[in-house]
Amino acid sequence: MTASRDALTQGYIREHDQLGAGLAALTEVLDRLIQDVDPAAVRALAQSRRFLRDVFVPHAEWEELTFYPALADLVRTHGDPNAAMYIDHREILRRIEAFAALAARIEAGERDPALIDRARILAYQIQALVDAHEKKEEEIHLALMRRHLSDREQVRALSLGDQLGHD
Ligand SMILES: [Fe+2]
Ligand SMILES: [Fe+2]
Repeated sequence: MTASRDALTQGYIREHDQLGAGLAALTEVLDRLIQDVDPAAVRALAQSRRFLRDVFVPHAEWEELTFYPALADLVRTHGDPNAAMYIDHREILRRIEAFAALAARIEAGERDPALIDRARILAYQIQALVDAHEKKEEEIHLALMRRHLSDREQVRALSLGDQLGHD
């Protein structure tokens, strides 16, 4: 049992590694295409598109059908329901730091197009992560708050720690 459990756990992590490699290939082919639209790069683009459809989408579907439901009670009972949000913040802040360092170099006068391109890519990454993150905050947290908290509790939840500077 332990052996098959370990094999399955490793298989799951390996699948994430494969997804990471597939996405790295996707960004790599786009980096190539922006230099030159050569036939090999176009073939690689088609391959990346198939990877998203045939590997990435089924992975997400499997997680929604079986993996998340199997662990929902566990997360409720033993997990921190906000853990995913903290991870989002960490990932967003990591990119903001990297972006700020590049922006400072550009502000200081560096004009290397590769530098500006890296800042541009980070800006899009920050935008995508923040967009997904805010959807969770609004569709999960705010929705639950509106449904289950009294007006007074809602005011309290939203105004607590106002001195920290959020709007
Ligand atoms: Fe996954
Ligand atoms: Fe947030």
